[in-house]
Amino acid sequence: MVTIEILFYSCLYVRQGFPSPAEKITQNGESSSFSVFRYTERQSNMFNFTYHNPVKVLFGKGMISELSHLIPKTSKVLILYGGGSIKKNGVYEQVIQALKEHKIFEFSGIEPNPYYETLMKAVELGKKEQVDFLLAVGGGSVADGTKFIAAAMEYSLGDPWDILAKGAAVGKAVPLGCVLTLPATGSEMNGNSVVSKKSTQEKLFFNSPLVYPQFSILDPETTFTLPVRQTVNGIVDSFVHVAEQYFTYNVNTPLQDRQSEAILETLIEESPKVLKNPQDYASRANIMWCATQALNGLIGCGVAQDWATHMIGHEITALHGLDHAQTLAIVLPSILKYQRTSKKQKLAQFAQRVFHVLLGQEEEESIQSIQKIEEFFQSLGIATKLSQYKIGSENFEEIANRLEKRGMKLGEHQNICKKEVLEILQLSL
Ligand code: NZQ
Ligand code: ZN
Repeated sequence: MVTIEILFYSCLYVRQGFPSPAEKITQNGESSSFSVFRYTERQSNMFNFTYHNPVKVLFGKGMISELSHLIPKTSKVLILYGGGSIKKNGVYEQVIQALKEHKIFEFSGIEPNPYYETLMKAVELGKKEQVDFLLAVGGGSVADGTKFIAAAMEYSLGDPWDILAKGAAVGKAVPLGCVLTLPATGSEMNGNSVVSKKSTQEKLFFNSPLVYPQFSILDPETTFTLPVRQTVNGIVDSFVHVAEQYFTYNVNTPLQDRQSEAILETLIEESPKVLKNPQDYASRANIMWCATQALNGLIGCGVAQDWATHMIGHEITALHGLDHAQTLAIVLPSILKYQRTSKKQKLAQFAQRVFHVLLGQEEEESIQSIQKIEEFFQSLGIATKLSQYKIGSENFEEIANRLEKRGMKLGEHQNICKKEVLEILQLSL
């Protein structure tokens, strides 16, 4: 059996390996009229990895009806959802219809950036009713919240918040499945969960192989009702997930590079179509599959990973309430500018292959690459500066202090500490 292990986020604590002395090789870059000879630093080989992804994906129109076969009829199922979008777009009815022979319970009200305080109420209900299967129906927040509930229901060593705050081990979890209605996080096909605590304004994550969904149903039709803001958030989140695993340094992984470029290029191509026609099934389907592929571990195999944009973004959400993707659209361009020299080769490669910018100089191409990314975000109508949300530099110290307190050294070289976070935030103003 093939195995996959996702490095997502845990890479913050795992040294990814430093580049070996630069070896100069020539590479032929081509444009329609001339050939460009390039000196590229080939820094080392692909890192070792273990790959295991056990999620069964059911993709396409009408697939929610398959639920009846996916969960044993003897199960007591707790259906978890958010603020009610599934009741307005017919997804709820489809789920209830499919589970009409099952014993079901419901828990609603899981909010965006799900709160620990809310999730603990679901833990209580689940334990009281002795449910043995959890079904998340919604976006990433519902999926993440359900993963936490699955782990917390089986946690007996104290406060389940310790799983997030102290990295307490998840020894057991209630099995779960997912009906996804918002393509963005990749939560439907990974073992990650991000949970916030209202009382302390913290936003933390955990990762466990025990909380992979057993299955995820992805019906693009469920996404027709997404508000523009959430459609855009999903595109940006997916884009940045790829960026975190691609804009690092070269470890000679042409396959993973091209897989990443394929996702980025597809997102760029499909976004205007879906914004123009929200009921365009073909575009919705392509964007949905891109979002899943962006964070199901595949493109991250054996490559250096960054994740600094996400870590800084989580603090901005926790303190200032911006949507997850809104923070990413601001922080990513700043980090790319701040670390342009160390990321130059990948930035230039991206400009050449995706935007067909062939200037013959990595320096210029890397600059254009960042400009094009910012322009892409702006074309979606998402802000790329903190000042557009009226967040000023007086808030930066607290963001940087929080990351420092957690001992975080961010980026693929673990060289982004407090001082660097402050400088990156200045670039985001
Ligand atoms: O609550 P309801 O009423 O369902 O409305 C939701 C919510 O208000 C709405 N929505 C979802 N599907 C809809 C819909 N509205 C109409 N039609 C539909 N089909 O959209 C709003 C936002 O939903 P949410 O689940 O919060 O969005 P998203 O999927 O972007 O999830 C964001 C959360 O995921 C975390 C983020 O930090 C954030 O907490 N992430 C999880 C990751 C993971 N598990 O791997 C990785 C990500 O980087 C991210 O950190
Ligand atoms: Zn994200």
